[in-house]
Amino acid sequence: MVSEVVGMLRPRPGMVVVDCTVGAGGHAEALLRAAGGRVTFIGIDRDPAALDWAAHRLARFGDSVRLVAAGFDDLEWILRSQGVPAADAILLDLGMSSMQVDDASRGFSYRRDGPLDMRMDPTSGPTAQDVVNVYSAEELERIILEYGEERYAGLVARAITTARRRAPLRTTTELAGVIQDAYPPRARRGTHPARRTFQALRIEVNDELGALDRTLRAAPDALASGGRIAVLSYHSLEDRLTKRIFDELAPRQAPLPGLPPPESPNARLRPLARGALLPGRDEVERNPRARSARLRGAEKLS
Ligand SMILES: C[S@@+](CC[C@H](N)C(=O)[O-])C[C@H]1O[C@@H](n2cnc3c(N)ncnc32)[C@H](O)[C@@H]1O
Repeated sequence: MVSEVVGMLRPRPGMVVVDCTVGAGGHAEALLRAAGGRVTFIGIDRDPAALDWAAHRLARFGDSVRLVAAGFDDLEWILRSQGVPAADAILLDLGMSSMQVDDASRGFSYRRDGPLDMRMDPTSGPTAQDVVNVYSAEELERIILEYGEERYAGLVARAITTARRRAPLRTTTELAGVIQDAYPPRARRGTHPARRTFQALRIEVNDELGALDRTLRAAPDALASGGRIAVLSYHSLEDRLTKRIFDELAPRQAPLPGLPPPESPNARLRPLARGALLPGRDEVERNPRARSARLRGAEKLS
């Protein structure tokens, strides 16, 4: 949804544009191009490998681009450390990049044999291997149910704790096999039985919902007056959280008869569209991973 993101954030010369999830730099390149390269562009990613890809792709924009290895929930500190008072445009393109999924050594994919890692920042924090081998059956069931929305969370959690009694689980395909065997045979058709559990583990390992919650709540302080924020999410947990926080930051008063409800004096943001924007059919045909994308945006009120 590159053109939708550019249309929502409207980058123009002189702006401060912050891409909180710069990844391979695809959105970054489009935003920089739309502003003729004449912006202060800050690209953040917690994965140092992603910053290498971004540095390569954005090299031609020279000094306009600053790349920062950090979690985006450090946004206020990052802006301050870059000597920037506030951002005019902020983008969050959530989740993992194709490069991360396709690299077996990162452990994100149940289809590729690799270590059970799943950290977006591979230099710190517990891995998925720590989670599956250390958490209690109850904790595993809770995260698989909550973050994976997996109806067989109890079965999967018990299968994991039984398997790890024989030997610690170490690889993605080993774990995928345990989940597949735990699944009721009638439910094994369709998407892979491990998909939801892998999503849950990734969210837990990277504290994805916590980081999103903290960042969206801090967004009004990080944005300049009239500045805009766009959030691209790929599953309902991220999209529901984004909607809830935007609604909280953009409260409305009771409507007068026949009129739309006015903004409350406490509102700090104004939503940029009614509901979420979805990818067009062409985009989904070109890139099936875009199927579940949802784009929401908001503007900081003066
Ligand atoms: C979907 S990809 C972004 C792709 C990018 N928009 C592009 O066009 O190439 C998401 C990126 O966000 C990074 N990421 C996820 N959570 C993060 C966080 N809390 N802080 C910083 N980076 C994060 C991931 O490492 C990944 O590189």
